[in-house]
Amino acid sequence: MTTDTEQVLQALQPVQDPELHRSIVDLGMVRNISIDDTTVEVEIALTIAGCPMRTTIEQSVTEAISGLDDRLQTRISFGVMTDEERARVTEVVHGRPSETAGSQPAHGHAEGRLIPFAQPESTTRVLLIASGKGGVGKSSVTTNLAIALALEGKKVGVVDADVWGFSIPRMLGIDRPPTIIDELLIPPEQHGVKAISMGFFAKEDQPVIWRGPMLHKALEQFLTDVYWDEPDYLLIDLPPGTGDIALSLAQFLPRSELYVVTTPQPAAQKVAQRAAFMAENVNLAVKGVIENMSWFTGDDGKQYFLFGSGGGKDLADRLDVPLIGQIPFTIELREGSDQGDPLMAEQPESEAGKIFSQMAATIDVELAPTRKYNKELKFLN
Ligand SMILES: Nc1ncnc2c1ncn2[C@@H]1O[C@H](COP(=O)(O)OP(=O)(O)OP(=O)(O)O)[C@@H](O)[C@H]1O
Ligand SMILES: [Mg+2]
Repeated sequence: MTTDTEQVLQALQPVQDPELHRSIVDLGMVRNISIDDTTVEVEIALTIAGCPMRTTIEQSVTEAISGLDDRLQTRISFGVMTDEERARVTEVVHGRPSETAGSQPAHGHAEGRLIPFAQPESTTRVLLIASGKGGVGKSSVTTNLAIALALEGKKVGVVDADVWGFSIPRMLGIDRPPTIIDELLIPPEQHGVKAISMGFFAKEDQPVIWRGPMLHKALEQFLTDVYWDEPDYLLIDLPPGTGDIALSLAQFLPRSELYVVTTPQPAAQKVAQRAAFMAENVNLAVKGVIENMSWFTGDDGKQYFLFGSGGGKDLADRLDVPLIGQIPFTIELREGSDQGDPLMAEQPESEAGKIFSQMAATIDVELAPTRKYNKELKFLN
């Protein structure tokens, strides 16, 4: 039996681009196929020059072709997509039928870009991680909670909305920027979590000097121009305080859920409450309180309540929401954040790791929204 082009295409159909999670055939990455008795030659058009996923693609293409007939040699050459080909990629991932792809110009936003998470049919739960005060652990909680959700098999994205004081790339240990295809940003992924941050575009030791409207625009781009691929959860790490960014997010994502992080002492609690009041003012649902740095377990096995106790519970009671977790102060958590090896990825079975897992489960099950929509935009219950 001889192999024909059609069979090769069929064999390649299940091969996905590792970043876009779409068939390389549908994306138009398979350019030329030529076959003789012993060899199949395929040209693969990479979305961008120097694509970091080249080796992975090479392996999966070779495997798929040898699955057809293991006597066949595979020879792969690589090219880079033209603007038109890239425009087709953008169209495919935006969910429009690929038959029409290529017929549109490559420039400009093809249609008024919408925030996918604000659409009624979106099934993504957006979790805003906030506090009135700086340094209480919002970014650490965001990072570890995101990994905990990913470990439960969820598709998870993180937006670092702390445009000035970004810390998510460092905490997740991501050192490569997003891939940019046409006008689409493919977020890098680490520990099962995709992330976008101003940190990918600015240097850590240089200030980002932007006014409110520019921040608003940057956030909007993080939500619209990034290819999130319908995650189950999008966690948003907020900057400290109750400023412009929270207002923008409330406007962009009116259905998001707010989680307030606080430390156990009464003073922190009062400031944290301001974040909750802000949320109520802009009609965001406060869903829970997370107490961080609750205690420190010494070598003697004793718990030391360094910052007092009871603050998280008091705040939760006052806001009439559950206290969904108390995270101990641990050196491993701090070191993990500094080194880009987050605790949840390295030591999910540690004391704090188990608490993050339990919080992920609480959010996923107990705090799941009671009203679900189906695709026809009707309430299911
Ligand atoms: N449970 C914890 N145990 C030990 N260290 C912690 C814990 N939570 C946070 N930290 C450390 O405290 C510091 C501040 O944490 P983090 O950056 O997460 O706070 P933040 O609220 O995001 O701060 P900012 O307001 O500046 O954005 C970091 O060095 C972090 O590693
Ligand atoms: Mg932070």
